[in-house]
Amino acid sequence: MSLLSDKIINWYKENKRDLPWRNTKNPYKIWISEIILQQTRVAQGYDYYCRFIERFPDFQTLADADEDEVMKYWQGLGYYSRARNLYEAARSIAREGAFPDTYAGVRKMKGVGDYTAAAICSFAYDMPCAVVDGNVYRVIARWMGVEEPIDTNSGKKLFAELADELLDKAQPALYNQAIMDFGALQCVPSSPSCLFCPLSDSCVALQKGIVDELPCKKHK
Ligand code: ADE
Repeated sequence: MSLLSDKIINWYKENKRDLPWRNTKNPYKIWISEIILQQTRVAQGYDYYCRFIERFPDFQTLADADEDEVMKYWQGLGYYSRARNLYEAARSIAREGAFPDTYAGVRKMKGVGDYTAAAICSFAYDMPCAVVDGNVYRVIARWMGVEEPIDTNSGKKLFAELADELLDKAQPALYNQAIMDFGALQCVPSSPSCLFCPLSDSCVALQKGIVDELPCKKHK
């Protein structure tokens, strides 16, 4: 347990949002939640997730359904290729017989990129994979005072390495959820409440007075 992990996990235990996909280790349910949340806010995705899981509780039910019906459950969420990919992946999993349980197998699923694969593997299987989304970029950039832009190849590589080093490998699921919520609720993009932040005494950006400038982007 590192300084960062210790503090954000304590913060998370006090402040976390109680979300249905967090009370499960079922990789199918976690997969559905992460695909919905790729381009949709939690507040909007919540009801869609609940309805989707109620109608399609496992990959076999999803694979056996008509594509038209699956699309109906997605109506209003936008980015409809997500739903088509989900359906195609469910049919492929059904042919194989089991949800993939390796990082490579999960990453190969249609519609699953690096972020979503890390989320599924850490949340469902407790694999030591760091999730790196916009929230995580912000927390790392500020806490460590990293001024490298996040929208260049070298910047992305640097942040992925830092995220890996910071990951609490003894409890990756808890740590990943904690850092994502910390970024979403405490270390927010503009005017964060640094006065009440548990990381304030070790935050490099705060000490340098550059919180509002981080993370940096090359292409604005
Ligand atoms: N956004 C993407 N994945 C999320 C998760 N598991 N919990 C909350 N917000 C998220």
